[in-house]
Amino acid sequence: MLILGIESSCDETAGAVCRDGEIISNVVLSQVIHKQYGGVVPEIASREHDSQITSIIQKTLDKANVKISDIQAIAVTYGAGLMGALLVGLNYAKGLSIALKIPFIGVNHLEGHLYASFISFPDMKYPYLCLLVTGGHTQIWEVQSPGNYFLHSTTIDDAAGEAFDKGARILGLAYPGGPEIEKIAQHGDTEKYNFPIPKVKNNPLNFSFSGLKTALLYKYRELSQDEIESHKKDIAASYQEAILNTLFRQLDNVITLTEITQISIVGGVAANKRFREKADLLKDNSNIHIYFPTAEYCTDNAAMIAVAGYEKLKERVYSPLTLKVNPNLALNDGAVG
Ligand code: KG4
Ligand code: ZN
Repeated sequence: MLILGIESSCDETAGAVCRDGEIISNVVLSQVIHKQYGGVVPEIASREHDSQITSIIQKTLDKANVKISDIQAIAVTYGAGLMGALLVGLNYAKGLSIALKIPFIGVNHLEGHLYASFISFPDMKYPYLCLLVTGGHTQIWEVQSPGNYFLHSTTIDDAAGEAFDKGARILGLAYPGGPEIEKIAQHGDTEKYNFPIPKVKNNPLNFSFSGLKTALLYKYRELSQDEIESHKKDIAASYQEAILNTLFRQLDNVITLTEITQISIVGGVAANKRFREKADLLKDNSNIHIYFPTAEYCTDNAAMIAVAGYEKLKERVYSPLTLKVNPNLALNDGAVG
């Protein structure tokens, strides 16, 4: 079955084609216009999706060497994300579905991120723990079987990706902050500055990142301009290390609780190379198996949406044309709309 995947939940306009679950093209356009604003401007994101989606889908089909009339079904993100941005992708998919007389399925963006692991590791077995780390979510899920999720841990304030983005803004770096911090941290000293690993009182398994960001702000104000410039790479490296150590500490706690040792780490933050390096060290010293999708499937893309959709479409589960976008969709709200 030839499926076209469409993703437009935030600031990436993306298309992908998969044949029987195997990705044959994957095209992502990141909207650079937001850099000048230091974050995503929702109205601008919608307009950019609207002006780019037709050419991105054409490029996706060309790369796969297929025609639009060859496509048999469409998988499209319908939540979570920005309302206007989601509407562009969903309405585009509905239009194609009507014109081509083919079914479509609305896919939960978060479940898409989960399925990214299966693109890189098709033989991953259940149950496993999934650390989902994006710009809006930091959660540890126990994935018991396809579609069955139990939440062990979530952030009570900022997400890890947000901590990277807000931290980058404090340091005068561009948006998105994760790749920028990663780049300058590469040659920095991870122990030069001491940032706290935050604890959450009432639920010790949960995450909190807003204190870390505030600690960075205080440190930044305390240092002279000369010191900031000469040690920016050390500040970035120490801050990144504190974010990653926080993620690993909670992951370790959930592993101890559940005794599940198969882990997948997905979402934009999982593209971070230092994250992968630290995971390798952990794996070497234990019987834990950690799976990171390749970086192109960590940040937002339509390949993960196509593959998540395929699992439902092959069972002939389709969405109605009345499907609405859901900006606040949660992972356990169900996979499809
Ligand atoms: O999954 P994603 O592309 O979009 C959402 O669904 O939110 O995640 C975006 C987040 C941003 O906060 C971005 O700064 C972060 O992922 N990110 C990274 C890296 N690449 C993207 N964080 C750390 N290191 C990276 N290399
Ligand atoms: Zn995402």
